[in-house]
Amino acid sequence: MSRCGALTADGIATSIGSMVRQGDLGHGDRLPTVRQLARRAGVSSSTVAEAWRILGHHGLIETARRNGTTIRAARTEMTGRFWRVPATVPAHGSPSILDLSTGTPDTELLPTIASMLGGLHADVAITSYIDRPVLEELDVVLRARAPFPPEAVTVLDGSLDALDRLISALVRFGDAVVVEDPTFPPILDMLERAGAVVVGVPIDDEGVDPSRLAGALRTGRGGGAVLAILQLAAHNPTGRSMSRSRVDAVASVFAELAPDTWIVEDHHAGDLVAGPVASIGVHLPHRVVHIHSFSKSHGPDLRIASVTGAAEPIAAVVDRRRLGPSWTSRLIQHILLTLLEDPDVDGLVRHAAAIYDTRRRAVSAGLAEHGITVCSSAGLNLWVPVANEQRSVLALALAGIGVAPGAPFRVDASDPSNHIRISLGNARTDLDRIVDAIATAATA
Ligand SMILES: Cc1ncc(COP(=O)(O)O)c(C=O)c1O
Repeated sequence: MSRCGALTADGIATSIGSMVRQGDLGHGDRLPTVRQLARRAGVSSSTVAEAWRILGHHGLIETARRNGTTIRAARTEMTGRFWRVPATVPAHGSPSILDLSTGTPDTELLPTIASMLGGLHADVAITSYIDRPVLEELDVVLRARAPFPPEAVTVLDGSLDALDRLISALVRFGDAVVVEDPTFPPILDMLERAGAVVVGVPIDDEGVDPSRLAGALRTGRGGGAVLAILQLAAHNPTGRSMSRSRVDAVASVFAELAPDTWIVEDHHAGDLVAGPVASIGVHLPHRVVHIHSFSKSHGPDLRIASVTGAAEPIAAVVDRRRLGPSWTSRLIQHILLTLLEDPDVDGLVRHAAAIYDTRRRAVSAGLAEHGITVCSSAGLNLWVPVANEQRSVLALALAGIGVAPGAPFRVDASDPSNHIRISLGNARTDLDRIVDAIATAATA
């Protein structure tokens, strides 16, 4: 315990967290009692108790009466919020269930395999370990498509892969990270596993609320945050997008109150969002990394996202990946390049975006007739207020419709509001039935 550098609860928790990370403490190792450590470290018992609470919250330690406090086994089981989303849908995947619980795009609206493979000619270069990770031609296209002139460009295996790698590169145990509340559950799971202190900032109809963001940064909870992960367009779960003026306001808050915070934009809906892409990077180009996923527009199975923006975090991810897969298959990169240069595919993606807009608008308008207000502007998702989310999920499952409960998306567990998230990728027909079923379930 001599390695407890900073003698605050956070400092003690961070020191023990890094000893676990480095393998100096392992599963089953017993920690001193609160009193023993307090005495040895010259701090109060409540400081040590608070450190234990933080470590317990992150699943690093457990306390059993007889055994005292010990280091827990590394978590490998699927226990996070993410796994609670589909798990609540009975008979998930059964054909009798219309599954609106997962954010998958409509397979009928994606480019065909033929259009993907059409550009793969025999002269496509077979590449080697030592080539650059990104194809030169794709690099040019991605730079041109980026929302602001990027210092660096890479491609990774989808938006979640990019988030995972950026979090690993930027976040250390005990660091504060700002996210929207609500947000996409896997982001919260990744942050929890990294040992981050997650600071949720509420959103309104236009996305993250600048005054609440400023409040979080001023109170010190988010102040000193190493990272903010934001979805500026087609926010999941709400479907809301930031207006240009909102982007400007949020950028000013970061510029004034959090000059050292990296900002990662998760543009997961990618080309399904029409018009110019909003980005804080227009204001803070040296601090923003913009992830653009092609999953929803061109196909989740391509597993590819572009990552453009600030050089330092992108270099950290690229360098670290050299110890692992090193690059995203250049065959897949060729396919993406073919798709991005094909005007027919462009038309198809626009058509898909228009269809999703129609579905969202139809369901929102139908719900409005039942007195249920839903505010969403792009993508696949609707965030519907309900009286009791568990009862609504169950009522809809009994009606043959799978939806996601709101709880896993919420950062603030004490938030008493109740919502369900409806994702309209699979809602090809029967919108009236869907609306009626949701309206009935909303009051269950
Ligand atoms: C906010 C958010 N980020 C990331 C993803 C996953 O993107 P990808 O398929 O590129 O990993 C999703 C999928 O729905 C999402 O909603």
